[in-house]
Amino acid sequence: MKVAFFDTKPYDRPSFERYGAEAGIEFKFYEGKLSSDTVELANGADAVCVFVNDDVNAEVIDGLYERGVKLIALRSAGYNNVDVRHAFGKIHVVHVPAYSPYSVAEHAMALLLTSIRRIHKAYNRTREFNFSLSGLTGFDLHGKTVGVIGTGRIGRIFIDICRGFGMRVLAYDKFPAKDSGIEYVSLEELYRNSDIISLHCPLTEESHHMIGSEAIAAMKKGVILVNTSRGALVDAEALLEGIKARQVGAACLDVYEEEADVFFHDFSGHIVSDDVLARLISMPNVIVTSHQAFLTEEALNNIAETTVKNILSYFENDGLCDNELCYRCGNIERCKKERKERCF
Ligand code: NAI
Repeated sequence: MKVAFFDTKPYDRPSFERYGAEAGIEFKFYEGKLSSDTVELANGADAVCVFVNDDVNAEVIDGLYERGVKLIALRSAGYNNVDVRHAFGKIHVVHVPAYSPYSVAEHAMALLLTSIRRIHKAYNRTREFNFSLSGLTGFDLHGKTVGVIGTGRIGRIFIDICRGFGMRVLAYDKFPAKDSGIEYVSLEELYRNSDIISLHCPLTEESHHMIGSEAIAAMKKGVILVNTSRGALVDAEALLEGIKARQVGAACLDVYEEEADVFFHDFSGHIVSDDVLARLISMPNVIVTSHQAFLTEEALNNIAETTVKNILSYFENDGLCDNELCYRCGNIERCKKERKERCF
């Protein structure tokens, strides 16, 4: 079985090579992202393996289909970069729904603590033997209110972590979990009452730019925003304005809406042409990591193991795969998976 592997990073290869060899899958690794310019690299492949910034749009899907590719195996949980509606009826799509929700939830808390306790500044100072404390005053998380948007796998672990810190948790979810003991409120209430807001919902047409100027204006003055979910949940220009107006007290961003051309690459020594990103990074109260929240040993192994299992179960199990998804996912009435069938 041949799988064309796009957007390969050095940390991908060891785990995929190991699990692939055990399963008899030959991964052909390409550093470039999958796009209409690179789709021909999928010639002769049974499947393609893609990550969050591969652009699997309608044209690319048609190109894969023409080349006889049968499966798009995402090695991520989020799948907003795949036109799943267009793929329906043509190419099956599988993803890795959970590889280590702890990795992302813990990174969200790491960013938050770094920001409010000024760890990033202290680290730089002590390396230069500057032991002054001025400007490093933080605040306690204990007793603060955190608003969590999206209470799925990652959101719930983040809630547990916050509770461990003695925080009050308010939550909003389009589909609130029953009997979870989580205090669900409306988005307006969450915005009004939260000292910190952390995003853990997927990027969809509906959630695109959900944090825009209107939402930011409805938040508590000085709110701290944490986004480890998807960049385009936040209108980055509105966030920048909110920071300049002191309405947003700090932002902790692991994702950025225009990250695809920048993140995962070394641009040190280059002029970054994205003015909004450059301005955000220049702010003393903004911390940016480059889509790193998933990057733990445990997560990388789980991603490779599940992706290989997904590919094997698709090709060797009559196409049945628990982790197949399509545009109807989440629509219980129309979802065939509830009845253990293929999506189409
Ligand atoms: P999940 O599917 O378990 O949970 C998502 C939750 O969001 C569900 O409870 C769902 O009902 C809710 N939701 C859906 N639409 C919503 C909306 N419009 N408003 C509010 N809530 C909504 O997903 P999981 O595993 O918790 O992951 C969450 C997100 O984290 C993923 O969609 C992905 O974008 C992001 N992620 C980021 C990573 C990183 O490295 N930074 C790594 C893995 C995931």
